Amino acid sequence: MNRPVGRVTRGTTGSNRLRRFDRWITYLAEREIRSDASPLSVDLGFGSAPTTTAQWQRSLRRVNPASQVVGIEIDRDRVAAAAGIITAVHGGFEIPTDRRPLLIRAANVLRQYPLDEVTSAWHLMSSRLAPGGWLIDGTCDEQGRLAAMLSIDATGQPVWFTVSVRLADLHTPSQVAARLPKALIHDNIAGSGIHELLEAMDRNWAAAPRWGARQRWIHMARTVREQGWAVRDSQNRWRLGELTVAWEQVAPD
Ligand SMILES: C[S@@+](CC[C@H](N)C(=O)[O-])C[C@H]1O[C@@H](n2cnc3c(N)ncnc32)[C@H](O)[C@@H]1O
Repeated sequence: MNRPVGRVTRGTTGSNRLRRFDRWITYLAEREIRSDASPLSVDLGFGSAPTTTAQWQRSLRRVNPASQVVGIEIDRDRVAAAAGIITAVHGGFEIPTDRRPLLIRAANVLRQYPLDEVTSAWHLMSSRLAPGGWLIDGTCDEQGRLAAMLSIDATGQPVWFTVSVRLADLHTPSQVAARLPKALIHDNIAGSGIHELLEAMDRNWAAAPRWGARQRWIHMARTVREQGWAVRDSQNRWRLGELTVAWEQVAPD
């Protein structure tokens, strides 16, 4: 058998850590999840315990009770430890499932890789997706209060960049800068798209009326859009502390 593509990295995880991921993914792909007779989703790199994988499975089954989730880990001991809790498979970015997944969640995995390996990992993973599927490459803090995600389509091209933060704890939107995906974190320097977006978010957050964090975020999101950023969705998403823009506006040159 071929060796899995990638390498073992730290396995840090935590219960509830990926709730912001799961909420965004369900929203992004709800139609596809519902319309598939038995949608397959892959949790790539579930870490030292499969808690977030089991949580994601429950979340997806609320949308489609026939949802199947497979956890893929490159560390054999972590696969063995997850047996009986989730369906766990030893493997890597090649995604060794017997059918094409609709969704691949790679949370806090690529951040531990060198930048020059990111695009090839995206292409390898997304080449396994079912038509209309999504790969989510993202990063968050230990508690899952600050998260940033890229939604990548089946061609391997990022389409959306999403920030999702817990508003109750937030001082300023650019706190998420420390949690940017690998493809953006090194580019967060004056003049880049991602730096300008975070600056615009901070500026409009600071200028927003102090009605409370939720109203402030909604105001910020609306103003950022009026200023020319391709912000998608509306209050329904913004009230959750989410903001999504077209990747092309933040993509590194
Ligand atoms: C920091 S943990 C993330 C755990 C969980 N996804 C979370 O966000 O809480 C990263 C895990 O990814 C695994 N990993 C790294 N590269 C991988 C690859 N190419 N294929 C599968 N698993 C991989 C590591 O072994 C590690 O257990």
